[in-house]
Amino acid sequence: MKKILITRKLLRSSEDKASKIFDTKFNTNDELYSQEKLIKMSEGCDAILSALTDKLDAETINKLPKSIKILSNFAVGFGNIDLDAARKRNIVVTNTPEVLTDATAEIGILLILGACRRAPEGIEAAKASNWKWSADYLIGKQLTGTRLGILGMGRIGRKIASIAKSLGMIIHYHNRSKLSVDKEDGATYHKDLKSFLSVSDVLSVCCPATKETTDLINKETLEYLPPGAVVTNVARGDIVNDEALIEALNRRKIYAVGLDVYKGEPNLNPGYLKHKSAFILPHLGSASKHTRTAMADLAIDNIDEFFKMGSCKNKVN
Ligand code: GLV
Repeated sequence: MKKILITRKLLRSSEDKASKIFDTKFNTNDELYSQEKLIKMSEGCDAILSALTDKLDAETINKLPKSIKILSNFAVGFGNIDLDAARKRNIVVTNTPEVLTDATAEIGILLILGACRRAPEGIEAAKASNWKWSADYLIGKQLTGTRLGILGMGRIGRKIASIAKSLGMIIHYHNRSKLSVDKEDGATYHKDLKSFLSVSDVLSVCCPATKETTDLINKETLEYLPPGAVVTNVARGDIVNDEALIEALNRRKIYAVGLDVYKGEPNLNPGYLKHKSAFILPHLGSASKHTRTAMADLAIDNIDEFFKMGSCKNKVN
């Protein structure tokens, strides 16, 4: 039986499944392992089922025991793992694509709605019972006819586009390459980032965090957006420069933001706190029982497939 380290607590049913297939080492207190602790805990293991909270940088990967053959990340994103360092050590890295598309797109739409329709202000006022209906009270931005710019038209981006279309939004996208007409589904492609941002009344960041996308939304690129644009991010905090976004909110270049992710999670840049127009969630993208179960199943199956077949279809490095 292969021995695996599961770095974070999973749902009970997922841990039960893992222990039927593997000799499992669980993190019963769900503590956040330091890099040293993670290395120590992985001693004697053949695989690590990691989470997005584990920073598997080159230094950590280089110190992992030789017995580790696969890092199965319990996430679709894998920006927490240095893929090159893993490849150099012949360690396979896998992710959990597809199964979290719908749940993450739901949160992507929630961010757009919450930011555009002033949900944070509304919630605060309703809870404090200090509001009065009037024709101009908490007027927000309606989505009908509004242009939505999807940055990264992968599975999640396309799902957000399809829901947003049904709400009457007009879809534009920027991607490394133009999609087939079928996948585009009426959306307009912009090869050029500036041209794309200049038509994004609402921006939805959906692309992976890579060296190329780090800080892609910054002081300069925020200026390309139309005045009063809304910025939402359901992907990774690293893609958005928080200081620049807060500064753009301060001078009302940006009307509102909707963020499920941000740099340095869980520590939110305090600059957002003074903005009632900041609709911010604690990385809930895939947080439903259905999706978290499917993700764990897939992360477990990836390890099983790798040891049985010598490879795995969800390999990313
Ligand atoms: C969640 O953020 C994921 O990448 O799975």
